[in-house]
Amino acid sequence: MRLDKVLAHMGYGSRKDVKELIKKEWVTVNGARVKHGRIHVDPYNDVIMVKQTPVHYRKYIYVMINKPQGIISATTDRREKTIIDLLPPDVQRFNPFPAGRLDKDAEGLVILTNDGEVAHQLTSPKKAVKKTYYVTVDGRITEKDVWQFAQGIILDDGYQTKPGDLTILTSGCISTVELGITEGKFHQVKRMFAAVGKKVIYLKRLQMGDIRLDTTLEPGAFRELTKTERKYCLSLKAKKN
Ligand code: URA
Repeated sequence: MRLDKVLAHMGYGSRKDVKELIKKEWVTVNGARVKHGRIHVDPYNDVIMVKQTPVHYRKYIYVMINKPQGIISATTDRREKTIIDLLPPDVQRFNPFPAGRLDKDAEGLVILTNDGEVAHQLTSPKKAVKKTYYVTVDGRITEKDVWQFAQGIILDDGYQTKPGDLTILTSGCISTVELGITEGKFHQVKRMFAAVGKKVIYLKRLQMGDIRLDTTLEPGAFRELTKTERKYCLSLKAKKN
């Protein structure tokens, strides 16, 4: 891969900026100063340094963010603040996008990546990756609801959902539950509860597959996935059919 491309990808500016860095003799490859950016390097194995700082090349980025309410989980929007706006430029330059959306009024776990295959595997109904939500509903949740969710719920458009795994946490005129589902139909959680006559008043995604929202992340905060979490993502990719 061309050195100038590697450096541009890793956030050292445009090709022109990179040219300037090289001209100033600030770039070395395997200890030798380089004279132009057209040389080909192995970005994973060659030791590339800029101003004596090593460049750790990677193609993909995997991030978890605790999406706050009021933010839309799109990549761009003319009017609204998006989840991408919450990321610093050195993460944005990888062009990450959300693997599965969360409603504007919902909060919690969103995984952002520029690895399209991982995003697909996390969200594809065929892969049946379980998404777990903490939900507050207006109304009393009973064992009958648990049973109904386990059978699958018929939504307003006639679609019968796959079984939902509903656990009652508290039950009263306002109830709290955890719900695990393996699909991601439009407003699915809200529509499942609407179908049993209850309104969702708070919705937070806690988990996608093996990846659980880091409880130390305040709303709006993000971190890169750990090695174990990345391994899980890549295992989905490896298992693809
Ligand atoms: N279900 C919903 O209703 N909304 C979401 O954001 C996610 C799942």
